[in-house]
Amino acid sequence: MPNTLDDTFVTEGPWKPDIFKGKVAFVTGGAGTICRVQTEALLLLGCKAAIVGRNKEKTELAAREMTQLTGSPDSVLPVSGVDVREFDQLERAVAATVEKFGRIDFVIAGAAGNFIAPFADLSANAFKSVVSIDLLGSFNTAKACHPQLKISKGSILFVSATFHYYGVPFQCHVGAAKAGIDALSNALAVELGVSGIRSNCIAPGAIEGTEGMARLSGSANKEKMCSKIPLQRLGTTKDIAETTVFLFSDAAKYVTGTVHIVDGGMWHLGTHFGREMYPQNLLSEENAKL
Ligand code: COA
Repeated sequence: MPNTLDDTFVTEGPWKPDIFKGKVAFVTGGAGTICRVQTEALLLLGCKAAIVGRNKEKTELAAREMTQLTGSPDSVLPVSGVDVREFDQLERAVAATVEKFGRIDFVIAGAAGNFIAPFADLSANAFKSVVSIDLLGSFNTAKACHPQLKISKGSILFVSATFHYYGVPFQCHVGAAKAGIDALSNALAVELGVSGIRSNCIAPGAIEGTEGMARLSGSANKEKMCSKIPLQRLGTTKDIAETTVFLFSDAAKYVTGTVHIVDGGMWHLGTHFGREMYPQNLLSEENAKL
C-alpha cells in the first residue's frame, strides 16, 4: 500500500487530533488513489466516512484497510454498486450513510474518469462518458447530499484539475468536464452560502503514484517532469490530503467559491505531458487523420 497515511499525519503534522470528531464524510471515488488518502486524513482526525464506488470488492477492501488506521471497524462504511451517473444510486448511498452515521458534514465529489484520446478518436459516447462521470456525477453527488448539508451546514469539495486553464491536446473531454465542475462549485458557493454551506474545488497537479498519473504520463521521464515544476518535485497524495483537511476545517470557515490548486506551481508554466513533442505529436502518422 504505497499511497496511504499513518499516525504520523497527526502526531507530526500541523493538525490537532480529533478536530473532526463527530463529523461524517461522504466520498465518491473513496477507494481511488487520491480520494482514499483524502479520506484517511479525515479519519485520522476523528471523522467517520462513507466511501462510495462502483466496484464491490475494491470498495470493501479499501474500507477494511482504512479502518485499521482508526482501530474502529465502525469508522468506514463501504457503499458499492454506485455509479455517480445515476442519481437514484447516490440517493441510496446517502440514505445508507445517514442510517449508519446519522449525518453528513463533508462531501468529496471525487469519482472521475479519464484517458488520453485525440479528438479524432474520441467518440461521442466517450466524450459523454467522461463528462457524465466527472460533471454530471459531481452535480448528482452535491444534489443527493444537499438535504444533509443543509442540516449540518456542511462543506463540499469538488475534485477539479488544471487541464482547462489552457488547451491541452487529447484531453478535450476532461477539460470540458472540469471547467464545468469549477462553474458548478462557484454557483453553489453563492447559492448555498446563505444556508451556511461552503463549496470549493481542489485541483491536483501531477501527483505521484496515482491512477490519473499512470493513465496520463505514460513513459514520461520523472526527472525531466520534475524540472518543469516550480517546486521541483511531483505532488503526493498527502499534499492533497493536507489541503482537504484545511478546506474542511474551521481554519477555512470563511473560504468558499475557490479553487485550491495543489500542483507545485506547475500550471503557471502551461506544462502538460507531451508539450515538448508539440506539434509533432499531432502530426504523426497515427494522427494524420486529425
Ligand atoms: N480512448 C478512446 N475512447 C475510449 C477510451 C480510450 N482510451 N477508453 C474508453 N473509450 C470509449 C469507449 O470506446 C466507449 O465509446 P464507444 O461506445 O463509442 O466505443 C466510451 O469511451 C465509454 O467506454 P466504456 O468503457 O463503456 O465506459 P465506462 O463507463 O465503463 O468507463 C471510462 C468510463 C471510459 C472513463 C473508464 O476509463 C473508467 O471507468 N475510468 C474510471 C477510472 C479512471 O479513469 N480514473 C482516472 C481518474 S484521473
